[in-house]
Amino acid sequence: MVELRLPKNSTVQPGKTFPAPDGATRTRSFRVYRWSPDDDENPSIDTYVLDLDDVGPMVLDALLYIKDKVDPTLTFRRSCREGICGSCSMNIDGENTLACLKPIDSIKGAIRIYPLPHMPVVKDLVPNLNGAYAQLEAIEPWLKSDTPPPPDTERRQSIEEREKLDGMWECILCFCCTTSCPSYWWNGDKYLGPATLLAANRWIVDSRDDHTAERLAALDDPMKLYACRTIMNCTQTCPKGLNPAKAIANIKKMQVERE
Ligand code: SF4
Ligand code: SF4
Ligand code: FES
Repeated sequence: MVELRLPKNSTVQPGKTFPAPDGATRTRSFRVYRWSPDDDENPSIDTYVLDLDDVGPMVLDALLYIKDKVDPTLTFRRSCREGICGSCSMNIDGENTLACLKPIDSIKGAIRIYPLPHMPVVKDLVPNLNGAYAQLEAIEPWLKSDTPPPPDTERRQSIEEREKLDGMWECILCFCCTTSCPSYWWNGDKYLGPATLLAANRWIVDSRDDHTAERLAALDDPMKLYACRTIMNCTQTCPKGLNPAKAIANIKKMQVERE
């Protein structure tokens, strides 16, 4: 069972401090959110002081160093280390981003690291994304065609048709956008959020898909789609430079044209 981050009546504890190794000359403090289902001192902020001469350049390098050399109990997701898998998304220095793409040198002062906001926490920096994935599955993010593929080749698109997918196929489903969206914070059980709506738009505009009208009808809902208030936090935070707000605006425009 997953419990909510910052449960009612809880206060953030000061946490432990792990000092820099002896002889360290180039130190930085990493203040990291800790929460465990097995710990009574929840949540807390632990401070790890590292010698940057021992650590790679990115925030993920620092987290890996902490886990390997300082505190193996620290829990976070990561895989590719190259901004491709989307698993190391977290809130760093007040911004949702990818730890593997965030240079330590780009942050002034102590480096504050929290899980993606307003999601249940499994442990430490690992959010529970089951709800977000269920919403993604609900928009059926795959090609739905009623026509069989050509016998000897792939389904072809013109250059112009293919270009319509640019700015969407690059999404790595890190959910930095969704968890930065105030509408999603307050109505995440009903509003689909920017990552899922960007995925929906990717299939709506795909020239090979035969279910555009059905997809639009499924989204024509005051909460699923229209809870977006065009606040643009999503676009501002996307670590891949994508524009989910523009994709949402396109779905709204197509809804008007459909009517
Ligand atoms: S533009 Fe829409 S989806 Fe993006 S942050 Fe604002 S309300 Fe959320
Ligand atoms: S649109 Fe950007 S922030 Fe949102 S899930 Fe895709 S890559 Fe992540
Ligand atoms: S580890 Fe894959 S995106 Fe950061």
